[in-house]
Amino acid sequence: FMKRRRRWSRYPPGPVSLPFIGTMLCIDFNKPHHSFNQLHKKFGNIFNLQNCWTNMVVVNGYKAVKEALVHRSEDFADRPYFPMYEHLGYGEKSEGIVVARYGHAWKELRKFTLSTLRNFGMGKKSLEERVTEEAGFLCAAVNAEGGHPFDLRFLVNNAVCNVICTTIYGERFDYGDETFKKLLHLFENSLSEEAGFLPQLLNVVPILLRIPGVPQKVFRGQKAFMDFIDVLIEKHMKTWNPAEIRDFTDAFLKEMEKGKEAEKSGFNYNNLRLVTADLFSAGSETTSTTLRWALLYMLLHPEIQSKVQAEIDKVIGREQSPTMKDQVNMPYTSAVIHETQRWGDIAPIGLPHMTYRDTELQGFFIPKGTTIITNLSSVLKDEAVWEKPNEFYPEHFLDANGQFVKPEAFLPFSAGRRVCLGEQLARMELFIFFTTLLQKFTFVLPKDQPRPREDGCFALTNSPYPFLVQAIPR
Ligand code: HEM
Repeated sequence: FMKRRRRWSRYPPGPVSLPFIGTMLCIDFNKPHHSFNQLHKKFGNIFNLQNCWTNMVVVNGYKAVKEALVHRSEDFADRPYFPMYEHLGYGEKSEGIVVARYGHAWKELRKFTLSTLRNFGMGKKSLEERVTEEAGFLCAAVNAEGGHPFDLRFLVNNAVCNVICTTIYGERFDYGDETFKKLLHLFENSLSEEAGFLPQLLNVVPILLRIPGVPQKVFRGQKAFMDFIDVLIEKHMKTWNPAEIRDFTDAFLKEMEKGKEAEKSGFNYNNLRLVTADLFSAGSETTSTTLRWALLYMLLHPEIQSKVQAEIDKVIGREQSPTMKDQVNMPYTSAVIHETQRWGDIAPIGLPHMTYRDTELQGFFIPKGTTIITNLSSVLKDEAVWEKPNEFYPEHFLDANGQFVKPEAFLPFSAGRRVCLGEQLARMELFIFFTTLLQKFTFVLPKDQPRPREDGCFALTNSPYPFLVQAIPR
């Protein structure tokens, strides 16, 4: 008993907790990273919160986040349970990957997904060829805007989603396709349903989800998005031929045929829906939002845009399609892309983790089952690491000789066992889409438009407010 008490006396500090709601009133759930940054200043790198009766610990700054995610990787590898996803089919036997508990099924599914994405290339084309091909379609669509002001959000989303869609379901959607527009709309709605106070409350007081009609009403967008995924899979099943693996879904179906062992590793039909939905949701909004930030910064910093274009002209020229091999010869462009990810800060609080066992962090005791928030924003803007943390400054990624360097605190994809599974794909998409667009166009702010806002709006990701651009062919 004394030992237990001593350990708990080393539990991290935090704001005063009220009966029932705990510390929920201390957090602005529409901008949680802002609240965390304020509490960070008051309580230090590691502080506790209490969402009703759920214990949470927020980890801030490069040193503490690295210690948790890298040095004590397994201790922090679990995920909390999210009752709010049950109505979509998430449950004990099928958890997908993103919210899966740390264990055998998660490991097997993650391994399978990584190797399928990496080795396979899917079908006859490599993943890189697919991205390059899609970049061509994107440029044609941008060109069709005829140099008039337009919001490039839809086109960029369409391009990025097409990469994921062809890889998973073997299907791409033409730009302007009405069904696809509907899908993106549903997806955006489903993201915003997860932000704010109410979903947090439903997660920590799941009994409220048992009130008839509540999940259907609160998470209407999520359900509609999942129904859409179901239609894509059902369509796919009709043409399934075990002798020919066309895409990720086929590879998963083939794995399912392996019987009991495969079943234990999570290869079941429900998980096929959930894993592909996971890849779709984790892999589309994140990458397309980053690209939109990149183009926004080019509007705001035309001199940086010109320097990137000069490097593209020198290394690739105006006609040749950019390839990943060009990247090593393009330190400035790489620096601009990395700085976009740092300053754009698109996943400011990453995804929640949970402690897998009792553990210690920087001298504090954190018991098993504690929800952990890694404040990635505090790492990407850590004043102890970055020269100009609150400015867009590509030189953060260049040494004195103009060569590309990547500081260790560059963690937009997080780190450790749950590090982003799509990091390689995302980096490929960012490089190829960005260089292809700037090779073909100069992006300018339309004359009558106000300067776009540089702060973001938060709905799980931190994305730019809508803005208009003109794409002038080069
Ligand atoms: C997880 C960032 C693109 C698939 C994550 C996490 C972050 C992240 C911060 C949470 C890691 C953690 O829990 O500590 C990003 C960013 C992207 C991006 C910034 C683009 C710029 C992608 C893409 C895919 C993807 C393209 C899919 C192909 C996933 C998956 C997870 C994940 C499946 C869950 C991993 C697990 O729990 O084991 N990502 N991501 N992401 N990401 Fe990404």
